[in-house]
Amino acid sequence: MITIACYNIKGGVGKTAAAVNLSYLAAQGGANTLVWDLDPQGAATFYFRIKPRIKGGTFSLFQRKRELDDVIKATDFSRLDLVPADFSYRNMDLLLEQQRKPGTRLKKLIKPLQSEYHFLFLDCAPSISLVSENIFAAADVLLVPTIPTTLSLRTLKQLLDFCDSMAYEHLAVIPFFSMVDRRKSLHREIIDDRSGILQNAPVSYIPYASDVEQMGVRRAPLETYAHASPAARAYRDMWAELLPRLLARNRRN
Ligand SMILES: Nc1ncnc2c1ncn2[C@@H]1O[C@H](COP(=O)(O)OP(=O)(O)OP(=O)(O)O)[C@@H](O)[C@H]1O
Ligand SMILES: [Mg+2]
Repeated sequence: MITIACYNIKGGVGKTAAAVNLSYLAAQGGANTLVWDLDPQGAATFYFRIKPRIKGGTFSLFQRKRELDDVIKATDFSRLDLVPADFSYRNMDLLLEQQRKPGTRLKKLIKPLQSEYHFLFLDCAPSISLVSENIFAAADVLLVPTIPTTLSLRTLKQLLDFCDSMAYEHLAVIPFFSMVDRRKSLHREIIDDRSGILQNAPVSYIPYASDVEQMGVRRAPLETYAHASPAARAYRDMWAELLPRLLARNRRN
């Protein structure tokens, strides 16, 4: 299993859109795929039309009264399952602090699923906290949607510096451009200059498009209602670029 965390310290950058659309493409490509909606806002859960709420909440998961396997729900799509969000996730930091090894709790919880799924997508809440440290310990790849603006690049640099300081050997950080508006000169300049912290980014980028916003109305992955749109094509191109990189990592681990 390859664990991909859609993560950014910043909010509203396209993490959930990436988790939903890329997980759908992974499943469509034949891989058993699980999405874990770790954000108490429950946006991914909403897009997949599943009721948020885990019986007993996060508490029961962390107390091992309930295994992750017990709370998995099937989506409307084959090979694609979801662990719904739960509003109690807002207290996850506090719960983690009470654990004996608070940094690796999430990793332990997902371990039993290794042989069931090819891909696990973690849809993360914005912020950097003890939950993030758990995510960094559990994930193989951090997929970081980045809007091409100066402040977003600064935040990306903070994240890369933090990961460097923790010397994570297992973790690849892959930023990609999200919500790109090529009419804006700053967006064009930043995405065309692929040096420095973005040299690792896929060539494909996700354009700013109302078709993506429509996911909230349609409550479905983009591919299912706007297959021919440039944004849907962008997610397909991105997944096609990411897949060999993910598989190569899996072989190394
Ligand atoms: N490429 C895009 N073009 C236009 N709108 C987009 C695009 N990607 C996402 N959006 C819209 O922007 C909003 C934020 O997107 P999304 O929920 O994916 O971001 P997020 O990083 O997960 O946010 P949060 O930090 O709140 O979890 C949503 O309303 C979504 O529909
Ligand atoms: Mg989100």
